Amino acid sequence: MTASVPSAPGTFSGAIPAALLGWYDRHARALPWRAPPGMPAPEPYRVWLSEVMLQQTTVAAVKPYFAHFLARWPDVAALAAAPEADVMAAWAGLGYYSRARNLVRCAREVAAMGGFPDNEADLRRLPGLGAYTAAAVSAIAFGQRAVVVDANVERVVSRLFAIAQPLPGSRRKIAEFAENITPGTRAGDFAQAMMDLGSGICTTRDPNCLLCPLSGHCAARAAGNPADYPVKAPKAVRPVRQGAAFWIERGGAVWLVTRQGSGMLGGMRGLPDDGWAAASDGTGEPPLAGEWEAAGLVRHTFSHFALELSVRRLRSGVPNLAAEGEWWPIERLPDAGLPTLFAKAARLALQ
Ligand code: ADE
Repeated sequence: MTASVPSAPGTFSGAIPAALLGWYDRHARALPWRAPPGMPAPEPYRVWLSEVMLQQTTVAAVKPYFAHFLARWPDVAALAAAPEADVMAAWAGLGYYSRARNLVRCAREVAAMGGFPDNEADLRRLPGLGAYTAAAVSAIAFGQRAVVVDANVERVVSRLFAIAQPLPGSRRKIAEFAENITPGTRAGDFAQAMMDLGSGICTTRDPNCLLCPLSGHCAARAAGNPADYPVKAPKAVRPVRQGAAFWIERGGAVWLVTRQGSGMLGGMRGLPDDGWAAASDGTGEPPLAGEWEAAGLVRHTFSHFALELSVRRLRSGVPNLAAEGEWWPIERLPDAGLPTLFAKAARLALQ
């Protein structure tokens, strides 16, 4: 097969979007936040909510959260009226909690404006909407031509054009090539078709070129080495930090604190800890003197470091706690909205 590959940015290639959209018409995933190919766009609220949730998170993980949020807060006005703590707790387990805080801020701004702005530039000004989300919402919800580049699209484009420069330095080049293949119509379908192709066929380790509608246009396929793209700069090793969390129990309840709004996991409930989030390692110091026993170690990976959190349980009687916090009934712990780190720690402490 001869590859027909536009070799330089600045030349629009219509063959690629035509082939991709034809494939999408037959193979689009049915997802709860989507309209079927060629159908009118879904409400901007659904598109925005799903796109914020899908950043850094898989489709499978997002589905139950999306359903829960829509049932509880069916439109942007309802979400705008929700207490931030309720939204944070409902977000628990999805990770990257600043997204949830921005979600509430954004909902309040949008409700005050009377609805979502319909163009990329104004969307970009809303809290929590980076370049990707603004482009995705403007294309998917408003049908506007926008160059939507997430990690899946980066992979597809790197392969289509055999981009030799490593990520992240190649991002600008990838965006230029993505621009060249973005059609003026069916913007939302095109963006989502690229995502579906990247997640289902043009996968990281084992691209399935035999099923790919773009294989005849793909430079990496023509060279026989699609899995070598995108080229990546060697990863910096993630530092490992140490911390401790403390399980204090009294009469069937556990002591929970609400974490500082601006710090890591800010605004979320958690076990008291030794301050690991503020410094490189925690102090190891418990919040009160007493007889502490080791309950085990939780390993958890954040974007910029890994944490080894030793969990300790108070054996002796519990004095009155002067610190700010609340006694939370252990049988209702799943309703506390603990982020995954502390949910894992609680499981250890309760073993
Ligand atoms: N990942 C991010 N946005 C998506 C979407 N709209 N469809 C499928 N996967 C996605």
